[in-house]
Amino acid sequence: MRAHEAGWAHAAVSVRGPAWLRDPDDVNALVSRLWPSTARKVDGALEVGGVALPELVAQHGSPAYVLDETDFRTRARAFRNAFGDYDVYYAGKAFLCTAVARWITEEGLSLDVCSGGELAVAERAGVPMARVGFHGNNKTEAELARAIELGVGRIVVDSFHEIGRLAGLTRELGRTARVMVRVTAGVEAHTHEYIATAHEDQKFGFSIADGSAAEAVRQIHESSGLALLGLHSHIGSQIFDSAGFEVAARRVLALHAQMSDEIGVALPELDLGGGFGIAYTTQDDPSDPSRLAAELTRIVTDECAARGLAVPRLSIEPGRAIAGPAMCTVYEVGTVKAVELDGGAVRTYVSVDGGMSDNIRTALYDADYSCTLANRSSDAPALLSRVVGKHCEAGDIVVMDEFLPGDVRPGDLLAVPATGAYCRSMSSNYNHALRPPVIAVADGVATVLVRRETLDDLLATDVG
Ligand code: LLP
Repeated sequence: MRAHEAGWAHAAVSVRGPAWLRDPDDVNALVSRLWPSTARKVDGALEVGGVALPELVAQHGSPAYVLDETDFRTRARAFRNAFGDYDVYYAGKAFLCTAVARWITEEGLSLDVCSGGELAVAERAGVPMARVGFHGNNKTEAELARAIELGVGRIVVDSFHEIGRLAGLTRELGRTARVMVRVTAGVEAHTHEYIATAHEDQKFGFSIADGSAAEAVRQIHESSGLALLGLHSHIGSQIFDSAGFEVAARRVLALHAQMSDEIGVALPELDLGGGFGIAYTTQDDPSDPSRLAAELTRIVTDECAARGLAVPRLSIEPGRAIAGPAMCTVYEVGTVKAVELDGGAVRTYVSVDGGMSDNIRTALYDADYSCTLANRSSDAPALLSRVVGKHCEAGDIVVMDEFLPGDVRPGDLLAVPATGAYCRSMSSNYNHALRPPVIAVADGVATVLVRRETLDDLLATDVG
């Protein structure tokens, strides 16, 4: 059958795949730096945390998110240790459940939440509220009231309306709220437009350039129920190059100096946000936390020295760099289809039992992923394949291009690495799909942290 002439699939790539994708020497081998640290193959079966994924699937079904607890904790600890003098806030939007909130706390990190839902998870997990930061560009009155009542350590303020709301609530409740001001530094982070957040034309923060940020600081300073901690700047996500942080830090510290002068006390804190990139494929080359810490500290200390400022207490908010590489998703193959393209080339579509409902990132950001056959090894030659989901949409792609053994067949398992950040947390019930479970693996034991949704869960909300 001939594929349709028009459309993005036609135009996207030749059947050779992107230039960075190399023919593998051994199509069965793991590219270890893309996988959780305990991942290995034993007779072709992928094992994570000492648990063989075919056995995990036999017991818990597929698809499933598999979370390597040791890897997650090691990454959290690495940030904690590398950024010794900083407060390290794990950005829960990357992935959050009560167990993970507890791990984070045990490893000495704080927690960034950005909704009443995430705050409720933190509360249930027993995270000390003084170690919670609350973000969001449109927090509701109820969410703010709850945060104040619980005594969260910082609320990151994002609009003038919110300053008014907070001032009113603190008066009503007779409490003080500790706040930071989210500023946009006018930096174009070199990442996908939808995840670049510090340039001017987007919804987050107060602009430094147009004076809003300075005005927000003034208003908060004059408001008796609000204790001003300092400024906050997050420039975007999946960033590999520290140049953006450098420009942002310079602008933010200029404002920090100006406002400290104007209000007569030095702002005590500065939050540099998150956004540190990870490897999804062999084309990505991320920094490790100690190099990041050295770079960010140098940037801030140089800038403070140049301005004669004392270095404020610093914080960062990594999400993806902790959760992302610690998880993989295992799927079962249902169908394999060869589609003839223009010029006679053939593309192999391998359909799995999940897709855009458990990983929207490929469809939403053109994100690249890789994958491997997880239940056996194969002698078949490597074949460029496209791994797609089971949803009713042509853009339902999980892995755009990957070499898989040419004999992949229904019943095989495929595993996709680096799905720990923004996959489960952005999952949906599209086509009434049931969200997969999150299963922690460590020392040969699999523990369900978040169970698979059931049809009853889905139907329970349908009350009409
Ligand atoms: N701090 C703030 C204020 C943020 O807005 C974010 C991410 C982070 C920290 C954590 O960034 P990370 O270190 O995880 O890159 N859904 C997109 C990413 C959206 C990020 C939103 N904010 C994706 O899948 O790539």
